[in-house]
Amino acid sequence: MNLLSSFTELTPVEYQTRWKSPSNIAFVKYWGKRGIQLPANPSLSLTLKECVTDTFVKFTPSESFKLELMLDGKETHSFSKKMAKFLESLTDLPWLNKLSIKIETNNSFPHGAGIASSASGMSAFALCLTDYLFHLKSSNLDFFQVASYLSRLGSGSACRSIYGGFTTWGDESDFYSSKIEVHSKFLQLKDTILIISSEEKSVSSTLGHGRMDDHPFSEARFTQGKNNFDKMKVALLSGDLWKMGEILECEALSLHAMMLTSPKPYTLLKPNSLTIIDMIWKFRKETKLPLFFTLDAGPNLHLIYPESEQNKIKTFITRELSLFVERYIDDELGLGPTKC
Ligand code: PMV
Repeated sequence: MNLLSSFTELTPVEYQTRWKSPSNIAFVKYWGKRGIQLPANPSLSLTLKECVTDTFVKFTPSESFKLELMLDGKETHSFSKKMAKFLESLTDLPWLNKLSIKIETNNSFPHGAGIASSASGMSAFALCLTDYLFHLKSSNLDFFQVASYLSRLGSGSACRSIYGGFTTWGDESDFYSSKIEVHSKFLQLKDTILIISSEEKSVSSTLGHGRMDDHPFSEARFTQGKNNFDKMKVALLSGDLWKMGEILECEALSLHAMMLTSPKPYTLLKPNSLTIIDMIWKFRKETKLPLFFTLDAGPNLHLIYPESEQNKIKTFITRELSLFVERYIDDELGLGPTKC
């Protein structure tokens, strides 16, 4: 499937646009890929509300390709390189070579906070580029499907940030994400993100995905991911909070188990990640409150719980868990990207 082929022969004009797009946290993880950014198993995520990237892009026709990128007011070499590589990879849009592209992008959350800035950053840019494509040529294609397709090529998990609420990727299509309906109980979920360490990761996600290629447990993991995906969808639709939490934690620990058991073993967990997991399990046993955790590819924990129980849970977070973290960010389910 190629959603870009109808945009191959276009004549660039000057245009500017601005989109705000959120990060997301995977409840069922994408870890391992095939082909061009295609997932080895389906994944499912919750779109965040507060952790967003605000991106302004100005496209100007030019003799040759130029890229000027400011991230949080500064020229950032690594992100510029990533963006240039992404734009070069879009060979279906050869006319991009005849553009000067100016990007100003700002994250609402601190750099290195372990929040997937590639998901919000790439999806915000992809929405701006899709806006430009549809400005250059009216199309019958679905705007958000094209944006998700482009986001995926920039960073796999970014394709799920295109919709609010809960989103799947690798179910309806491997090429773009889709929004799913869930029980109303899950529309008020909170996510308190505990920043245990803001150090740069020792192994990037790109390398981590690569280590699944010759991993002794890869096939078992992809089967587990698919089974957890099916079970998670049922739990979310039926309103089964406890089942959701059980699968959520299984997915987080499996992701990190893959790192620990890969042919070149490594871990991104820190001692305090495990201390807090232990404290959450004890708290849950004692209070019977539905507080669950998940992890991204890093040491920081996302605490997932319903708004209805937030008073007692927030007290536990601020009085006890906060002693083991650098800082925390209060977030919750969000409604998806917006055009500014
Ligand atoms: O989108 P990438 O290539 O940065 O991979 C991210 C993978 C995880 O964040 C660990 C899991 C996921 O599904 O978001």
